[in-house]
Amino acid sequence: MQEKVIAILLAAGRGSRMNSTVKKQFMELKDKPLLYYSLKAFEESSVDEVILVTDPEDMEFCQKNIIEPNAITKVTKMVQGGNERFRSVLEGLKVCGNCGYVLIHDSARPFVSKELIEEVITEVKKHRAVLPAVPTKDTVKVVNVRGEVEDTPARTSIYLAQTPQAFAMEEIMRANAKMMAKPIPGLKVTDDAMIVEHYGSCKVHVVMGDYDNIKVTTPSDVPLAMSILERRKF
Ligand code: CTP
Ligand code: MG
Repeated sequence: MQEKVIAILLAAGRGSRMNSTVKKQFMELKDKPLLYYSLKAFEESSVDEVILVTDPEDMEFCQKNIIEPNAITKVTKMVQGGNERFRSVLEGLKVCGNCGYVLIHDSARPFVSKELIEEVITEVKKHRAVLPAVPTKDTVKVVNVRGEVEDTPARTSIYLAQTPQAFAMEEIMRANAKMMAKPIPGLKVTDDAMIVEHYGSCKVHVVMGDYDNIKVTTPSDVPLAMSILERRKF
């Protein structure tokens, strides 16, 4: 039997670094809210369902202005997020029900390609935990609290993490439960792969991400996003 694949699409952040009046996931890019682009990519992928995590005050907007006019059919649930990203993820995981694999994606990455989604799905079925990432183009420095360079890791070993990250449902649930029961002091969880790295039972397998799969975070990312959009002709 084919196991169900669910995508959790995160859109419950405040977008504080964007400094805009409209939350960044709803900012318009070429007449469509930013969230539309990743939602469309998942709609056209082989995922069975999409769970949209967002603020209750934004659910009607999502339904009336994004889902209905664009004939999106795969959103089966909208759930309220939490204060931190990992809490929003947990709210999504709680309502996945009986499913084999879960993809977790930041709606702040509008240019996820259908190809990357399929690659991640294929690989998670083999490896149980998958992370798309791209090699850094810049040299990375480890800097201490006094502003002094401590180390320069070899560039070939430094990758920048992206989403969608994918997991066997059992694996991510077990790792999350372990984290909640006994959090490692001082460990700040900034993505989902980290939870499996520290609390899971398998290695996280890396697949090649996409340099266009940017996270729209600050105002200077907006012109970059526009140029990717123009080039891709969404
Ligand atoms: N996110 C979420 N719930 C949170 C925090 C973040 O669903 N409590 C989502 C955001 O909507 C975004 C993704 O996680 O799609 C990545 O987070 P980030 O880029 O940090 O977005 P924000 O947290 O909204 O922005 P900022 O950190 O600047 O406030
Ligand atoms: Mg954030």
